[in-house]
Amino acid sequence: MTDILIALWLIFPAYVANASPVIFRGRIPIDFGKTWHGRPLLGKGKTWSGLFGGTAAGIATGFIMNELYPSFGEGIGAVSVLFSLSFGALLGDLFKSFLKRRIGKQRGEHWIVADQIDFLLGAFLLCFVLNRAWFMANFTIYHILFLLIFTPLLHVATNILAYVLKLKKVPW
Ligand code: CTP
Ligand code: MG
Repeated sequence: MTDILIALWLIFPAYVANASPVIFRGRIPIDFGKTWHGRPLLGKGKTWSGLFGGTAAGIATGFIMNELYPSFGEGIGAVSVLFSLSFGALLGDLFKSFLKRRIGKQRGEHWIVADQIDFLLGAFLLCFVLNRAWFMANFTIYHILFLLIFTPLLHVATNILAYVLKLKKVPW
C-alpha cells in the first residue's frame, strides 16, 4: 500500500506535465507545420507553449510537493529531477505523436495504451538518463510496473466517471 502511494507521489509531477498542455496550448506547432512523406511530422496538437507550459507546471508542482515532503532532492538537483520527469513526459508524448502520424492516425485519434503510457515511458527514460542516482534510489521495478498498469486503468475509470457525471457523451 505505501509502495503504491510512493509510486504515485514520485510520478505526480509527470502526470501534471502531461495533463496541463490542454491549458497552456498555443498556436505555434513544434513541427512548424512541416510534413514528412505527405503526413504531419507531429501534428497541430503539439505546440511550443504546451511543451514549455507543461514542463513548468510539472516542475512547479514538484517544488510544492518538496515543501510538503522532501522527495525530489535539493536545489539544482531538484530542478534537474523535476525537469527530467516533466520534460521527459512531454517528450514521450511527442514521440508517440510522431509514431501516430507515421502510421496515419489523425490528430486526436485514439491509440489505446500508447496514448496513456507514452508520458510515463518518457519520464522514466529521461529521468534515468539525466538523474540515474536519484532514479535508482527512488523507483523500484514494482513502482514502475504498477504505474504502467495503473495509469491506463485510471484513464478508463476517469472517463467512465465523467460519463456517469454527464461531463462526457461517451464512456471512453
Ligand atoms: N497540447 C499542446 N502541446 C503539447 C501537447 C498537447 O498544445 N506539447 C494540447 C493540444 O491542444 C492538444 C491537447 O493539448 O490537442 C491534448 O493533447 P494530446 O491528447 O496529447 O494531443 P492530441 O490532440 O490528441 O494529438 P495526438 O493525436 O498527436 O496525440
Ligand atoms: Mg490525445
